[in-house]
Amino acid sequence: MSARSRVPVGTRLHRFLFEAERQYPQATGELSALLSQLGLAGKRIARLLSGAGLADQLGPSGAVNPQGEEQQKIDALANEIFLEAFSYGQMVPTVVTEEMELPARLPENETAGKYILFVDPLDGSSNLDVDGAVGSVFSIRRMMGKGPVLSQVDLLARVSQEQVVAGYFVYGPSTMLVYTAGPRAGVHGFTLDPGIGEFLLSHPDIRIPRRGRTWSANDGNLATWDEGPRRYVEALRRVDPARGRPYSLRYSGALVSDVHRILLKGGVFLYPSGTEMPGGKLRLLYEAAPLAAVVESAGGAATDGRRRILDVFPDANHQRTAFFAGSRDDVEELEAFLSGHAE
Ligand code: AHG
Ligand code: MN
Ligand code: MN
Repeated sequence: MSARSRVPVGTRLHRFLFEAERQYPQATGELSALLSQLGLAGKRIARLLSGAGLADQLGPSGAVNPQGEEQQKIDALANEIFLEAFSYGQMVPTVVTEEMELPARLPENETAGKYILFVDPLDGSSNLDVDGAVGSVFSIRRMMGKGPVLSQVDLLARVSQEQVVAGYFVYGPSTMLVYTAGPRAGVHGFTLDPGIGEFLLSHPDIRIPRRGRTWSANDGNLATWDEGPRRYVEALRRVDPARGRPYSLRYSGALVSDVHRILLKGGVFLYPSGTEMPGGKLRLLYEAAPLAAVVESAGGAATDGRRRILDVFPDANHQRTAFFAGSRDDVEELEAFLSGHAE
């Protein structure tokens, strides 16, 4: 859907996709099908979360994910929901998920081609025990050649740089779907109406404010960061009313929820690398890159400190990265600190 199109607030996701497709005579409907199926997965996860505390579905699963992090029961269940949603229909032959070492094979779709799905099925799982907001992140990239992707080498040889669709769900007081199909199509937000089980357009053409007044980071890690981000945060804390400082700190510990706030209100999110995590913590393909696509399509910026996140080509399916994203003016200022050109 173009940024200038007029689809009224309250429009169902299905109708919105239909109208968007009509603007592209060459559209095959595949992306609409993918987004509808993502919507289904998001609805199922929202429902799972709403009753998890009553159904003994909270707490650790006993397993660890490929990055050695403790897996929660909900991480595993959300992963199953995404795999099940894409297990038929020839949409993608493979899903690369945070919860599995190798790309997941979908036997019914072995001959499907064209797209590959990357997903963080449940983001911010440490918030689950305290009923805090969590999310899911997804990214669809074009794929060269047909058939399942069985290895990391095969994945890297066949996946394209461009994300065709990227976005997230945030499961908060309401469930929202936010996605972009590229900068020209803009960023749109839909809120789940639980009564009818449909996502309805609630935030058309989201534009991130040029500048905000909040920063979002794990302040407890500050001593481990490089000098650039440390000095930037120290500057944001100084009293300087003319520049809107000090900025407020807002950090929930769920990337999706923190970036969602910044997308709507402006400001800057930081997860720098540091002595404890030299390559950063967040995963490129299913955390940083999709959120960078959303933030950039809304008029903001996202960088790893040296280059645009969207220019980083992956070396591995679970590759990590430093991640800075937010309002254009805030990120520009941050970059001056990162490159040592600001006081
Ligand atoms: P996940 O639950 O998918 O593993 O992601 C957790 C991530 C992200 O949501 C958040 O921004 C970050 O980890 C929080 O890390 P800290 O606890 O180090 O602040
Ligand atoms: Mn995550
Ligand atoms: Mn996760």
